[in-house]
Amino acid sequence: MEKIKIDNNIFGEFLSAKEISERLVEMGKEITEDYAGKTPILVGVLNGSVIFFSDLIREIKCDCEIDFIRVSSYEKAMRSSGIVKVHKDVNSNLEGRHVLLVEDIVDSGLSVTYLREKLLKSNPASLKIVSLLLKPEQAKIDFEVDYVGFEIPPAFVIGYGLDYEQKYRNLKAIYSLIEERTV
Ligand code: IMP
Repeated sequence: MEKIKIDNNIFGEFLSAKEISERLVEMGKEITEDYAGKTPILVGVLNGSVIFFSDLIREIKCDCEIDFIRVSSYEKAMRSSGIVKVHKDVNSNLEGRHVLLVEDIVDSGLSVTYLREKLLKSNPASLKIVSLLLKPEQAKIDFEVDYVGFEIPPAFVIGYGLDYEQKYRNLKAIYSLIEERTV
């Protein structure tokens, strides 16, 4: 297994670029079928979803539009803070639209729940959630994710858009924390 050492934390390769791209083909197919005849608007949650988002939309074969919202929920840490701050809102009018909110990872579920409630205020025709990763054991509240790439254990992950202190988003694979620095 390929390992990376960051600040004395050891990360091991967890999902390869090939495994991710194969799963994205399946997800794209499912979304294409579910939205046949509609023009959904995909709202990417910046910054983490940017790589997943751009790969996923190219696997969606029906007409679609895109927009972005930028939030932060982790403050320089490897644990969920529960605090969601909106830095950039969507520009499109979502009223009457079929909206797909695209997340990189759902951990505690606090961010996605906040975003769902926020977007519902625009009265979309429908609102579904897509997330590349889901950590089911971490859920702090009840929520639903409609399309999940991979369910993963609670360990902190980086790469393919996911950061550690804003870095390592450019790794092609996803790496999981296997040994955490203790001092
Ligand atoms: P939640 O509100 O706890 O569900 O956290 C969601 C957000 O926290 C995600 O959109 C990520 O930006 C960040 N996050 C959660 N888990 C991880 C992780 O393992 N690595 C990197 N970022 C994470």
